[in-house]
Amino acid sequence: MNKTDDGFSYLSGALHCEGVPMARIAEDVGTPTYVYSRNALVNRVRRLQTALGTENACQIYFAVKACSNIHILEVLRSAGCGADIVSSGELFRASVAQIPGELVVFSGIGKTEKEISEGLKAGIHIFNVESLAELLTIERLAYAAGTKARVALRVNPNVDAKTHPYISTGLKKNKFGLAPSELREIYAHLEKLRAVNICGLSCHIGSQILNEAPFVKAWKELIKTAQEAPFDVTYLDLGGGLGIRYQREKEYSLERFGALVQKTFKGLNYKLGIEPGRSIIGPVGMLLSQLVVTKKRGSRGFYILDAGMNDLLRPALYGATHLVSLVELPKTRKFSPVDLVGPVCESSDSFQTGVRLPALKAGALLAFGNAGAYGMTMSSQYNSRPRPAEVLVDGSSYQVIRTRETYADLIQREL
Ligand SMILES: Cc1ncc(COP(=O)(O)O)c(C=O)c1O
Repeated sequence: MNKTDDGFSYLSGALHCEGVPMARIAEDVGTPTYVYSRNALVNRVRRLQTALGTENACQIYFAVKACSNIHILEVLRSAGCGADIVSSGELFRASVAQIPGELVVFSGIGKTEKEISEGLKAGIHIFNVESLAELLTIERLAYAAGTKARVALRVNPNVDAKTHPYISTGLKKNKFGLAPSELREIYAHLEKLRAVNICGLSCHIGSQILNEAPFVKAWKELIKTAQEAPFDVTYLDLGGGLGIRYQREKEYSLERFGALVQKTFKGLNYKLGIEPGRSIIGPVGMLLSQLVVTKKRGSRGFYILDAGMNDLLRPALYGATHLVSLVELPKTRKFSPVDLVGPVCESSDSFQTGVRLPALKAGALLAFGNAGAYGMTMSSQYNSRPRPAEVLVDGSSYQVIRTRETYADLIQREL
């Protein structure tokens, strides 16, 4: 169960998001549905902004890949966040949410010419560049467009983030960033660049990081690279990656993260940026689902839900656990272990095995916690299942910020 300050709590035995009963959302909007708390979201941004202090004017660029709904982006924009994007689709979403170009950083290892041109046109703050070839393409396109592109070189600091291998990005063997030899190759081209202003460095070593050591190692490497660079480095992008408490992990809080940034960069004259996604939106979203049918095989019970791996992929993809909460607290104290699974035709479509739950009937409502990040954005229509709805709660009212997909949505591009 999420903490009350992440927007979810029990009132009179019924799970609420802020002042709205989750059961009411299920009744009005149906299931599965992603539910987000607006006030908890703003609160997390405020906590991080306060913790970062003002000395290095550290700007938060929200990693749009974590949750890209334009209404969520609007809330974040009004709280002072920019956007970290990895495609021009995300640039489009950011612009619809009225995030100004100068508050957009463009990350990603394979930006196409079309995407670079669109970034230039939008006047984005900076391109985080990952190869000499990409840099030369930006130079060519910016020159042709009669503009100057701001660039930060993404350093690969060869740091083990000690996270799931699929979300580790800062090791030499990973495809991301520039190794020292690649940086030197770029430095040899500096004098030839006419339409590119290389003014910064960036790094991002992975996601769901729960202790300070990998951050400190990576940022120290960034500082060293900045001090040795043959150009004036005025800006450092420290990446995202701060983890959240999915189960019983020890949390590294927003406050500690902000304090660590302040401590590491104190007295250094760099303007800073960070690209958090999960730590901002993860805890303030739940996936609301309904029990479709129960099944027993020997001593093993299965609860089959109407949400599946196409709606929330993380358990199947990473073996991640999203703790489940009953929308209505049970009267009984008799709990037995069951496997909570989805309806998709894959054995990996399982949320949790052996979770202790009371006897439930079809129609019972359950909600998976910490589902705000990489939930809806990783959803698909696999098994021809329309994607879920999304709801944003604000106090005692809520708004459907994305309607449930329909069967027509499944085939509209095929007609
Ligand atoms: C370049 C970059 N920045 C930021 C993020 C956001 O990471 P997180 O959601 O862990 O904060 C990612 C995610 O993988 C990323 O690849």
